[in-house]
Amino acid sequence: MRRDFTTREEIRDVYQKRAHIYEFAVYCCYLLGFPIGQYRRLVIKALAPQPGDTIIEIGCGTGMNFPLLQEKLGPEGKIIGVDLSEAMLKQAENRINAAGWKNVELVHSSAANYTFPDVVDGIIATGVLTYEPDYDKVIEQGTSALAPGKRWVVFDYKMPTGWFRHLVPLFAWIFRSFGISTALFQRRPWESIKRHLHNAKIQEFYFGLIFIAAGEAA
Ligand SMILES: C[S@@+](CC[C@H](N)C(=O)[O-])C[C@H]1O[C@@H](n2cnc3c(N)ncnc32)[C@H](O)[C@@H]1O
Repeated sequence: MRRDFTTREEIRDVYQKRAHIYEFAVYCCYLLGFPIGQYRRLVIKALAPQPGDTIIEIGCGTGMNFPLLQEKLGPEGKIIGVDLSEAMLKQAENRINAAGWKNVELVHSSAANYTFPDVVDGIIATGVLTYEPDYDKVIEQGTSALAPGKRWVVFDYKMPTGWFRHLVPLFAWIFRSFGISTALFQRRPWESIKRHLHNAKIQEFYFGLIFIAAGEAA
């Protein structure tokens, strides 16, 4: 019988086991008409990073957003990638070494236990915060670390409001080996972005299943 994965420990175990096939699975998303590369570029656009900025990526995984961030930050900028799974971080380390980047720091931590630096210039989390039971606290703590006017951007999935919601069990079943379950659709991180930040903008994609939520620190 299938069961829902909802705790950090369960999600960590899933990513420990699946790290080696994660990127292959991401590319398979294109077969479902899911333009993940385009969504990543929209996340970076919403973040609006500047050369020399320090950006935190919560749940950085294998570092698939790093090349897009590097393009904007340049060698004077810095990326701090935080992740719960050592196996995913190992893949990220391989990517960093292959590219020869000297400006990326990796931190092994859950989002909830991570202590943000005093001041950062932007925070992103792509496909992560819906896994984190304390996502509201993470967004609140990250907001306190953001320099004025700098942005928090979350990309994730949610329960669509229209007819597409009937396909959520199918979506959860397809991605079950990555810990996605219908229970996680109860989580609503975009509301935390609206609650803790200013000028919140929520964009929806893929029949309302996908969102990008961005807000600015006061
Ligand atoms: C779907 S992958 C996304 C990876 C990357 N952000 C990307 O866009 O390719 C989810 C990642 O979040 C990490 N993760 C899940 N729950 C987490 C948590 N509570 N705190 C930190 N990382 C978490 C997993 O280990 C995994 O690497």
